[in-house]
Amino acid sequence: MQYTTLKKTDIRVSKIGIGTNRVGGHNIFPNLDETEGKNYIIEALHHGVNFIDTADYYGWGRSEELIGEVIHAVNIKREDLVISTKAGIQRDPQGNRKMNSRPEYLRAALESSLKRLGTDYIDLYFLHFADNETPVAESTGELARLKEEGKIRAIAASNLSLNQLKEAVSVTDISAYQDLYNMLERDIEKTILPFCLDNQISFLPYYPLSSGLLGGNYKIDDPPPKRFTKEGFQQKVQIVDQLKIIADAKGISLPNLALSWILAQEGIDIVIPGGRHSGHAQSNVKAADIQLTPSDLEAIENVLKDVIQS
Ligand SMILES: NC(=O)c1ccc[n+]([C@@H]2O[C@H](COP(=O)([O-])OP(=O)(O)OC[C@H]3O[C@@H](n4cnc5c(N)ncnc54)[C@H](OP(=O)(O)O)[C@@H]3O)[C@@H](O)[C@H]2O)c1
Repeated sequence: MQYTTLKKTDIRVSKIGIGTNRVGGHNIFPNLDETEGKNYIIEALHHGVNFIDTADYYGWGRSEELIGEVIHAVNIKREDLVISTKAGIQRDPQGNRKMNSRPEYLRAALESSLKRLGTDYIDLYFLHFADNETPVAESTGELARLKEEGKIRAIAASNLSLNQLKEAVSVTDISAYQDLYNMLERDIEKTILPFCLDNQISFLPYYPLSSGLLGGNYKIDDPPPKRFTKEGFQQKVQIVDQLKIIADAKGISLPNLALSWILAQEGIDIVIPGGRHSGHAQSNVKAADIQLTPSDLEAIENVLKDVIQS
């Protein structure tokens, strides 16, 4: 495994982290097997992954509980792990999600996350979403106070507009930012990504495998994942077939091609693929050691040039 340092911190993280919205995230995905989810984390740790990304929203806390169980069962010191979690989505009395980024809510959410994870600090704490009422500066200002109190080591944000991110940066150091980015979904390349580069913010792409499209898990007639139009989805599946030819010629898997492509992009040195079972972890950790050549990148760019952004 290869490691890097989160911007504006001394936190060393593996270049391949793990996303855990499918570990106990029953409110997002059906039919999740919790034992397999825990094995996915254990397998990743076994391969030198030290970076676990979760959120209090995943399974309304269940993902954090399962991670807590794993980190107490494995023989790894807490200081050798980097745990990131997020707050900003609240469950309303009807069980629906509602954004809440008020300072007092974020503070209370952090305390609950610490309990579920069985730890007394979070390495990287995210403002998951901003609600439309609380100024972002107030939310990140509270995260800055939590950092001063030693409850979190670094501050991060996700799903903000460029202006909101600028506001966040104006009040405190933001070490990392998460947004949607992968070979097939590149909207942020001209906006948020350059801002992160210029402002020393580690950019952590979510959906790096385009929710499984870049795992090769979809056929053209399958129902598309929610965020895609039928036309956009079908075009992407055809593009994925061409990417698979490039991966085959290089002797690597399609998801490894997708993850190593992300790591080859300027300013991106960490990726957090999600998975459901140990096989996903076993496969994805290999991406850290794959170097795409300039001619690989050119061949990929030729395939991607007409991709529809929806
Ligand atoms: N900040 C935010 O708002 C936000 C939003 C979304 C996600 N995230 C974070 O980002 C992480 C990654 O996103 P994601 O998990 O939703 O999407 P993703 O990484 O794009 O896709 C994960 C899915 O890809 C498939 N996959 C993974 N490895 C594979 C392999 N080696 N071979 C074949 N298929 C493979 C699996 O699909 P199947 O399960 O269908 O096999 C897996 O569930 C999340 O876990 C979460 O931690 C953050």
